[in-house]
Amino acid sequence: MSDPVVLTRATTLRGSVRVPGDKSTSHRALMLSALADGESSIEGLSPGLDVAATSAILTQLGARRRDEGLVLVEGPSEGLRPSPEALECNNSGTTMRLMAGILSGVAGDHVLTGDDSLSTRPMDRVAQPLALMGATVHGQGPRVTAPLHIRGTSSLQGIAYHVPMASAQVKSAILLAALAATGTTSIVEDVRTRTTTETMLRDAGIEIEVTDLGAGRRVRVVAGRPRTRHWLVPGDPSQAAFFCVLATIHDDAHVKVLAIDASPERTGFIGVLQRMGSNLTSRPEGSVTTLEVQSSTLRATEVHAHEIPSVDEVPVLVVAAAAAEGVSAFRGMGELRLKESDRFEGSMTLASLLGCRVWSEDDDFFVEGLSSARAFREFSVDAALDHRMVMAGAVAATAGHGGAVRGAETVSSSYPQFFDDVASLQ
Ligand code: S3P
Repeated sequence: MSDPVVLTRATTLRGSVRVPGDKSTSHRALMLSALADGESSIEGLSPGLDVAATSAILTQLGARRRDEGLVLVEGPSEGLRPSPEALECNNSGTTMRLMAGILSGVAGDHVLTGDDSLSTRPMDRVAQPLALMGATVHGQGPRVTAPLHIRGTSSLQGIAYHVPMASAQVKSAILLAALAATGTTSIVEDVRTRTTTETMLRDAGIEIEVTDLGAGRRVRVVAGRPRTRHWLVPGDPSQAAFFCVLATIHDDAHVKVLAIDASPERTGFIGVLQRMGSNLTSRPEGSVTTLEVQSSTLRATEVHAHEIPSVDEVPVLVVAAAAAEGVSAFRGMGELRLKESDRFEGSMTLASLLGCRVWSEDDDFFVEGLSSARAFREFSVDAALDHRMVMAGAVAATAGHGGAVRGAETVSSSYPQFFDDVASLQ
């Protein structure tokens, strides 16, 4: 591991940031292009290593990629074929879970591997529904961790499945397998997770029907082959959240974040920050929005996981809570433990290193804020192979009194230019 990145407090923060292309959209644009017959183009693909892992795997399976300003991906007419080599997903859970769905419908044997972080993450959540569809998915131990051995089949069956946790990755793995299955597949989720897969499947000509069902949804999809097309990737809202919190809690900031995906399942953090008192405005234009944020004084709030499905923005909201006045409650946060690192523990540790009193009860945790980032302590933290913990730590250090982040190179999983973009505002 390289030396820690040491950050100092920024004196002022001014300017605009264009965050990388949305990671979720980027993975799916590559996958749907590789499944199609012929060439698709992608504009604004995420430059992160997670998306690069998906791209390399699809190439191993027979897709062809050329970079000519746009990314051009050609799906083989005869469809994807197994690779004799293991397929390396590195740090990327989206790659492993969604590829498990695709590979279930590619006849033959496949092996998916990952780094130390990914190899601890539960894959039983995809192995179970994919087995019901007719694939064999074996991993290590009861949580079916990587390496994953998948036997795909050309005779997958459509299923009706109730996803037992809030997970867009599980829903998406089933939807992608359903493209190769006989009959219709119907999925119910209790929480409305991001609809990136549903929207993009529809855009690629697949017959798909989405119905709201109480607080959740039912999605029905009919098997089919995605059509080639041009994919335009919007800015990544989960990356925008770091700049929104940074500009909110820094005491001399005025920052714009340009053209991010505006879908409601991705932008829950905006409402949380606004009710804490953030001087944040959102100017939607079609399916994207530009955010403008200025220094603000924050009050504590209560955040429920349903507001931030997938909980990706929680670590940085914890940094906002640390700068707020009063006790913030983060409720129903069990899924945080299963991300690239245990973000439940990691977020509490970061807040406590900043000087906050923190405590937990079951899946809830609480942070007593310090009323201002000016009151943060200087700290040193280990990012534990987790890009979002790197960026949350960097936000706290840049707005507070500096700090050191060990393992900061992991930021490249999703945002290789992150430190340059923060520096460009100073
Ligand atoms: C993602 C879904 C989320 C999120 C991840 C990307 C996706 O995971 O944390 O970074 O692209 O589908 P869940 O499966 O927990 O929703």
